[in-house]
Amino acid sequence: MEYTLGIDLGTTGVKVLLVSEKGEVVASGNGEYPLLIPRPNWAEQDAEAWWDATVSAVKNCLAESCVSVRKDVKVAAIGLSGQMHGSVFLDDKGEVLRPAILWNDQRTVDQCRQITAMVGAERLIELTSNRALTGFTAPKILWLKQNEPESYAKVNKILLPKDYIRYRLAGVFATEVSDASGTLLFNVRERKWSVEMLNALEIPGNWLPDCFESTVVSSRVSADAARLTGLDSGTPIVGGGGDQAAGAVGNGIVNTGVASCVLGTSGVVFWHCDTPAYDPMARLHSFCHAVPGKWHMMGVTLAAGGSLRWFRDNLCQDIKAAAEKKGIDPYEIIGGMAQEISVGAEGLLFLPYLAGERTPYADADARGAFLGLSLRHTRAHMARSVMEGITMSLKDCLELGEQSGVQASRIFLSGGGARSAFWQQMAADIFEIEVARAGSDEGPAFGAALLAAVGAGIHKSVQAACATCVRVKDAAKPDLAQADRYRRLYEIYRRLYPALTGFYKMDASFING
Ligand code: XUL
Repeated sequence: MEYTLGIDLGTTGVKVLLVSEKGEVVASGNGEYPLLIPRPNWAEQDAEAWWDATVSAVKNCLAESCVSVRKDVKVAAIGLSGQMHGSVFLDDKGEVLRPAILWNDQRTVDQCRQITAMVGAERLIELTSNRALTGFTAPKILWLKQNEPESYAKVNKILLPKDYIRYRLAGVFATEVSDASGTLLFNVRERKWSVEMLNALEIPGNWLPDCFESTVVSSRVSADAARLTGLDSGTPIVGGGGDQAAGAVGNGIVNTGVASCVLGTSGVVFWHCDTPAYDPMARLHSFCHAVPGKWHMMGVTLAAGGSLRWFRDNLCQDIKAAAEKKGIDPYEIIGGMAQEISVGAEGLLFLPYLAGERTPYADADARGAFLGLSLRHTRAHMARSVMEGITMSLKDCLELGEQSGVQASRIFLSGGGARSAFWQQMAADIFEIEVARAGSDEGPAFGAALLAAVGAGIHKSVQAACATCVRVKDAAKPDLAQADRYRRLYEIYRRLYPALTGFYKMDASFING
């Protein structure tokens, strides 16, 4: 039996999985690090803290699997995955210049406008298949130039989060196509860095790492890293993937006609594409897939599970305490309350734009709302409307997909929200598509391990790896009567954001505090 290691460097923590060639997770390790918010709308992390957490998570995973003592368990290859778009700035000695600026940092509204003006909105989409969004990497580089010129003057390399871990594991600067796609410096159609973008932004090409396909062995574990982690020196490391692409591989989204919907802190609808399709207005992201020679499109609701967590933490303290006493998950109680209420929460609607919104509006000023509150409404109605609002925001993504010619006859649900069978059925009814769940919901680390298995020659392709390792647990079909009611609700929901844009823009600085 052969095994591979998947490492996912998430926003709240790192997860390491040892996966067998049959797709069984035989051991795992976890580590955490804080999110730094030095100013409102900023989000940073300390790259050294990522590395420390990764070293201990790898060690714990190897200890659990007894890799060091059992001769039959050997790590054939490693796959890396991680939060996308973040920027780690290094000097010419490979030292980190400042805390990494993350995907959910909103400081670059102005730089996005500048990039769009410099390159031209249409040309930007032609070159990169995307539009300038605050989370992406290029505007962060421009921000550094304009706001911290002393650091900018010392930049010698810019790495994405998971590629910083590769650098520490192997001493090599490398990335792969799926994560490079989220930098706004990458020609997604041609799967290579865009010289025109680099020239337009005056970014030296040698600041960026070499870029490989996701299954290609791009480096090997160094002797130093081997000593620290317990891995064998020389273990191959494949390109890996951005967390969304790697997560999609872990859910088997590697052929046309299937899509996935991640109900995590953010919510993501993800389609596999055989060709480099893109929305002419770039309302959906269009990136390279971690499947060699394939692409994907995706839409992102920034506060999906994040909205329900906000509801839990701010309006359900008593439920949290009761759940803790009983040793159950508070979301079970919240879901149970919501289930008692009928479709549409008796006229209460929720907009999940608590962190601004990416798809379809790309509006950092958008904000959440409960609309239609009446004396009749209870906390249970609010719970139901929050879940419905999040799901309808993801339906907005699906609608855009249809307009751009990507369709799915089945959607795989994953992330924390997928634990709820009630939410799974609600998604099937709102999307009007069968919603399935995969047997193991281990997230991007699992997909990264599968990419490593392909790189190590254990499976002959990503599709073959998924066929062997990804199992379907269950599937919910739309309930026609409920779907009909939701269709009417969605017609109302989709008119709310346009009706509120005047309010959002009225005085963004006052309204957003
Ligand atoms: C994708 C995105 C998030 C981050 C963090 O575009 O911004 O998925 O990668 O998970």
